[in-house]
Amino acid sequence: MHTLVTANQIAHARFIAALERALVSLTELDTERARDAWNELGTLLAAHQLIEEELLAHAVAYSDATSPRGGAPSLILAEHRRLDHAHGIAAVKIAVLDRTPITERRLATVRALDDFLRLRHLLEHHGAREDQIVYPHLMSIVAPDVAAGFAARLADDKRFSRS
Ligand SMILES: [Fe+2]
Ligand SMILES: [Fe+2]
Repeated sequence: MHTLVTANQIAHARFIAALERALVSLTELDTERARDAWNELGTLLAAHQLIEEELLAHAVAYSDATSPRGGAPSLILAEHRRLDHAHGIAAVKIAVLDRTPITERRLATVRALDDFLRLRHLLEHHGAREDQIVYPHLMSIVAPDVAAGFAARLADDKRFSRS
């Protein structure tokens, strides 16, 4: 059974794996595979953020505890929207690279790298905030059975489960 902290770490490791698959495909100038990996990252991010925002709403509704410094729900939500935005910008870049002639695609990919790495940096920053501040706090205020339910949902991904 996962705790909220470990469940969140498992989910975030999947984001990084999908992001790295996209980068590997880009280094091979394979924009189709890069797009698939980037779309998968977007799907994973959206599903994860939905569960997280439900958990934050639950905590706000059922607890009077003050959020720790750097762990306010409004801050987490704002970072989620920033992640969505960065993901969208990079998705557009992949579409542009896909239309770029193969002879010019390597240079165009190098010039677009910042847009892909920006999401990676945002994810690292956001993940550290959740690992060190948000989830330890949530574990201290959310009822154990509720926390276990959310942890199972955060760690679960049908596409990764092997039975
Ligand atoms: Fe998270
Ligand atoms: Fe998050």
